[in-house]
Amino acid sequence: MRNLKLPNNEMNASELSLGCMRISKLTNQEISTLIHTALDEGINFFDHADVYGGGKCEEKFSEALNMNSGLRDRMILQTKVGIRQGSFDFSREHILEAVDGSLKRLRTEYLDVLLLHRPDALVEPEEVAEAFTILETSGKVKYFGVSNQNPMQIELLRKFVKQKILFNQLQLSITNTSMIDAGINVNMQINHSVDRDGSILDYCRLNEITIQPWSPFQYGFFEGVFLDSPKFPELNEKINAIAADKGVTNTAIAIAWLLRHPAHMQPILGTTSPQRVKDACKASDITLTREEWYAIYLAAGNKLP
Ligand SMILES: NC(=O)c1ccc[n+]([C@@H]2O[C@H](COP(=O)([O-])OP(=O)(O)OC[C@H]3O[C@@H](n4cnc5c(N)ncnc54)[C@H](OP(=O)(O)O)[C@@H]3O)[C@@H](O)[C@H]2O)c1
Repeated sequence: MRNLKLPNNEMNASELSLGCMRISKLTNQEISTLIHTALDEGINFFDHADVYGGGKCEEKFSEALNMNSGLRDRMILQTKVGIRQGSFDFSREHILEAVDGSLKRLRTEYLDVLLLHRPDALVEPEEVAEAFTILETSGKVKYFGVSNQNPMQIELLRKFVKQKILFNQLQLSITNTSMIDAGINVNMQINHSVDRDGSILDYCRLNEITIQPWSPFQYGFFEGVFLDSPKFPELNEKINAIAADKGVTNTAIAIAWLLRHPAHMQPILGTTSPQRVKDACKASDITLTREEWYAIYLAAGNKLP
């Protein structure tokens, strides 16, 4: 497993992360096997959110692993706050309260990374700044980032927040490429030309913010997995041919496609299958050629101008 070039910090992060959004349905034994498989494969970065499973994902994670300082030291734990029932909430009070809840459920004294989960329309960046400083000085959080935010939202935070924004977690897979499409089709009279996110991809590169692609195997908004789906025959044919050529699975190719982008992204795997974790980690051993990357992009139904 290659390590990631993460600017502006001392984290020794793996280039793949394991997301824990779907683990609440697993038994403790299954969770333990999943996480230890990831660790054995070189993944040291685990993504949570206070809302996953209504808190159960964080809770079961630490319970299943019987969290202890030895194990904790081998992990980079990231969680997200700001989603509540029926609203988003980036208030100082909520951020602080939510972090305390996550620390308790994860059975740890500190979070390596805290992300703001989804933009709060009523955000007051001065309050976020206060919360971040309290969390940093108390030692509860080491590093900070955001999720699903566009450049101007990040700029607004950066005007007030002292800490660096290191991450932006965004939906990105071979079948969800609007942030790439808009850069390829500048100023064209077609749908692919629409810049839906304020050029977030280039903004993150310019500002050394690591993009963490979420739902790397899904099409639509949690509509299903594109791999082996009859909805994407041409894409699967291309992915399978490249997989056969490189001696890996289609799972590895889906992740290798994200890793090939020079933005140095850190995909978040959402699988609960230890075998798929192993398959995905093989992506770290290969590098797609420029021709293979574009061939997969085109097979997903995209066109070059
Ligand atoms: N910031 C945000 O707003 C946001 C939003 C969503 C997710 N996330 C984060 O991103 C992580 C990943 O998201 P995700 O779980 O949606 O991503 P994903 O990895 O694209 O999807 C995982 C799901 O797809 C299934 N799957 C994957 N590959 C498969 C294959 N080859 N064949 C059949 N099924 C397959 C998995 O089933 P198995 O478990 O059986 O493998 C699992 O149900 C989450 O855990 C969370 O940490 C963040």
